[in-house]
Amino acid sequence: MVNLSLIYDKFAKKYEDNRNIFNMDNIINDLNNYINISQGKLLDLGCGAGEPFSSYFIKKKWDVIGVDYSSEMLKIANKYLPQLKTIYSDMTLVKFNINQFDLVIAIYSIFHIEKEKHTQLLKNIYFWLKKGGIALFTYACKEYTQHSEFSGYKEFMGEQLFYSHYDETTIKNILDNIGFKVLSFKYYTIADETFLWIIIQK
Ligand SMILES: C[S@@+](CC[C@H](N)C(=O)[O-])C[C@H]1O[C@@H](n2cnc3c(N)ncnc32)[C@H](O)[C@@H]1O
Repeated sequence: MVNLSLIYDKFAKKYEDNRNIFNMDNIINDLNNYINISQGKLLDLGCGAGEPFSSYFIKKKWDVIGVDYSSEMLKIANKYLPQLKTIYSDMTLVKFNINQFDLVIAIYSIFHIEKEKHTQLLKNIYFWLKKGGIALFTYACKEYTQHSEFSGYKEFMGEQLFYSHYDETTIKNILDNIGFKVLSFKYYTIADETFLWIIIQK
């Protein structure tokens, strides 16, 4: 199988052409219910082209760092969002100090990582967040993969991509055990794809 970062390099032009076609206002509104500061520091894991979430917070003058391991996706992000500070890295390897961020997001990205690595990644997010900080991430689910737990390949935009997720109860238990408070656990269907959108607090 082709390395996933190279597949996203190939997708970058499509992401550029399709900037802003998906309306995610419902999710941004959900998130805003829990954010009680006007400006802060945001980490976007698997930021891709940075739309629409990083872009939204940059417009509100937040300090935003994006991490992605596709250099072509980061080129698009840098072209349209020069204020986004980008780090070219695998998000499972990146390191930040404790209590750094008011908000961490991972939009349509964590599900490309083997589920056995999800607990450590979520522990890292907990470590990086300030006390009371919020995280939002998209999680794959049965509605998308047809399995309650899954690790394997699915077709996306003509390529075979790796997806991996636990079932709902397991991911909730992982979050509880780390110490997160689960604020919102909702299914949203966007462009005919249903995923879980989870908002948690340290
Ligand atoms: C479906 S795209 C989503 C991009 C963006 N978050 C958005 O909502 O449009 C997934 C992104 O996650 C990145 N990605 C996937 N696994 C990653 C990893 N382990 N480390 C860094 N980036 C990763 C891919 O390169 C790609 O840019």
